[in-house]
Amino acid sequence: MPNIAFVNGRFMPLAQARVSVEDRGFQFGDGIYELIRTYGGRVFHIEDHLRRLEQSAEALGLSMVYSKSRWKAILEKAHGRSGYPDAKLYIQITRGAAPRDHSFPKKTRPSVIITVRKLTPLSDQLHEKGASVITVPDLRWGRCDIKSVNLLPNIMAREKARSAGAFEALFVRDGLVLEGAGSNVFAVIQGRIVTPPNGPFILSGITRDLAIGLAREARDPVIEKGIPLEELLGAEEVFLTGTTTEILPIVKVDGKPIGDGRPGRTTRRLYQQFLQTIRP
Ligand code: PDD
Repeated sequence: MPNIAFVNGRFMPLAQARVSVEDRGFQFGDGIYELIRTYGGRVFHIEDHLRRLEQSAEALGLSMVYSKSRWKAILEKAHGRSGYPDAKLYIQITRGAAPRDHSFPKKTRPSVIITVRKLTPLSDQLHEKGASVITVPDLRWGRCDIKSVNLLPNIMAREKARSAGAFEALFVRDGLVLEGAGSNVFAVIQGRIVTPPNGPFILSGITRDLAIGLAREARDPVIEKGIPLEELLGAEEVFLTGTTTEILPIVKVDGKPIGDGRPGRTTRRLYQQFLQTIRP
């Protein structure tokens, strides 16, 4: 089964996909993206991802190029052509190719790229045993709510985590834990589920919203507020949310055990609720 690409209106095998070296995504990181996954052949929360793509496009004065219904049709087609039941659909829109100049080019066609690859899910063992994270200073800019392809601080943080043997790095700004390099963070503190509020310093995660909804369905209070690092370290439970991360228990932060060092009850229950939502 092939990995598929869609580049400016044409489908092709991923290995044949090309863009210009003058593409502003390549030159300046002048672009936005989404990562959507499929479960058993169904595209997960496509509307929410397209809404967030539109918000990122608006924030940077980029065109969405296609209507939402056209986007949906293209994504379904790309996924269908790949044949992978569990796939990662990556979308990127850049301002297009133009002679290198910082200011926006006047008449450039945006580049639209979609790639479809097979998704390897996280192991059951990781979900059962829980993962560890490290914390790092947040070196990012003031618009982390835009899903921009500028990801240097994120990849540097993730690399640091990997070399420390950890699953993820959590960004800390002014003493507050904000989110992971590619995931949102939650804690259970004195029986209440806490997660940092949406705003310029986090990406409004689609799995985050889903987890909040699931918690409220189970009548668990959810508070959206900043989490000081000391509070996170003293939490009963910590977990991450994200498209590929799903709902993942964190049992160690900076080498210190969280709670009794095993995935907590609330996290495990939320993950079970989450699994129910993805089963057709
Ligand atoms: N990352 N925060 C950041 C910084 C992210 O990059 C992501 C997603 C999330 C979680 O958002 P969602 O639940 O909508 O996936 C939070 C994707 C998966 C990535 O960069 O590949």
